Amino acid sequence: MNLRCKVNLNTLVFLLILQGATVVIFYGWYVQLRPCESGTPTRKVHVLVLSSWRSGSSFMGQVFSQHPSVFYLMEPAWHVWFTSKEPTARLLRMAVRDVMRSIFQCDFSVMDSYLPEQHNVSFLFMWSHSRALCSPPACPLTPRNQMSSEPQCFQKCDARGLQKVEEACGTYSHVVLKEVRFLELESLYPLLQDPNMDLRIIHLVRDPRAVLKSREESAKSFERDDSIVLGQRKVPAAEVQYQVMQEICRSHVRINERAVLKPPPFLKGRYKLVRYEDVARNPLKEVNDIYEFVGLGMTPQLEDWIYTVTHGNGKGSRKEAFQITSRNATNVSQAWRTMLPYSKVKRVQEVCKGAMSLLGYKTVNGEKEQKRLDIDLLVPQEPYQFSWVSTKKEHKSKR
Ligand SMILES: *[C@@H]1O[C@H](CO)[C@@H](O)[C@H](O)[C@H]1NC(C)=O
Ligand SMILES: *[C@@H]1O[C@H](CO)[C@@H](O)[C@H](O)[C@H]1NC(C)=O
Ligand SMILES: *[C@@H]1O[C@H](CO)[C@@H](O)[C@H](O)[C@H]1NC(C)=O
Repeated sequence: MNLRCKVNLNTLVFLLILQGATVVIFYGWYVQLRPCESGTPTRKVHVLVLSSWRSGSSFMGQVFSQHPSVFYLMEPAWHVWFTSKEPTARLLRMAVRDVMRSIFQCDFSVMDSYLPEQHNVSFLFMWSHSRALCSPPACPLTPRNQMSSEPQCFQKCDARGLQKVEEACGTYSHVVLKEVRFLELESLYPLLQDPNMDLRIIHLVRDPRAVLKSREESAKSFERDDSIVLGQRKVPAAEVQYQVMQEICRSHVRINERAVLKPPPFLKGRYKLVRYEDVARNPLKEVNDIYEFVGLGMTPQLEDWIYTVTHGNGKGSRKEAFQITSRNATNVSQAWRTMLPYSKVKRVQEVCKGAMSLLGYKTVNGEKEQKRLDIDLLVPQEPYQFSWVSTKKEHKSKR
């Protein structure tokens, strides 16, 4: 009797200690597993939205920019491309890569090479489109969990130097950069292999015929970019658009094949192809998938905003609060079919044949087929193939 009592007491004490230890261990895990909620995140996720001109990348950028966990910056490579004299895309790509690497790590000193000695936040290309630069600690204007208004930010959030920008960058779990000036993947390999980085690439593409139509509306503004893409080659004016489209389409093939066909081990699960048209047709689902891919959660405000900008004046009328205009996204993605003459469609189909077949855009064989909007030219995308180890696991295994 006595003995049994003693054993029971020992067992009880043991169980209590065990329980205590379990609580401590689980608490530890719990804290480790939620790196983004407690102010200073331990390990950042870096996202590159890699696209080309007129492919919906401004919208995709805003999808990230407006997220409360994201520090977003548009086109840092713009500074590199527009500071150099007579450059070619090939000559600049390593400089672009290094600028991106520094900014991903919140080191803005790299911008010194591309800005005047005395500079302001407003010297950064399209700075006011970055919600993080309109929110504390960069600017008191917009609380971090609210949608930012670009015009207001532009008026109120400029400051001298980039110290506040750097400080702000450090407080977010995700740093997202958008680039249209990136025509290959190989230069990014060192970033993908860098143990201090966790880079995910979102490759945003769009039907080349729609891109051509959109580019034609403001051809002048692409002149400098075009000559960089064409490597300063002399090309007859009437041919420039098609040769540029050819380069862009080739780059999509290069990038997609590199990432999907035989990806090096460090690229596995770090690349996601997104088609503009899929986003236009099913914006919430697509954005949810994209968020999941990079480890972000959807918020009710973002859901509402995405609905509004992709459905024209859907809910509410906060249209003018955003730089991105609200349009019927499905309509916009089909506009080329009624607006572009078949002769041009034919040309762009010729130069982009490989890319269109790879990315799932059906060609049309005549004006009739082009204008019959009931004929769907989008090949359904194959179901999401790779098995991405969840963000949390990824974080843990890398420690
Ligand atoms: C730089 O920012 C300061 C502070 O907001 C402002 O007073 C100044 O006019 C700005 N300078 C330029 C060149 O924009
Ligand atoms: C969308 O396209 C249809 C058919 O082309 C047209 O009737 C309609 O007005 C368009 N809607 C918008 C919002 O542009
Ligand atoms: C957008 O356009 C598509 C196709 O033209 C149409 O089916 C849809 O009803 C339109 N949506 C709105 C909100 O106008």
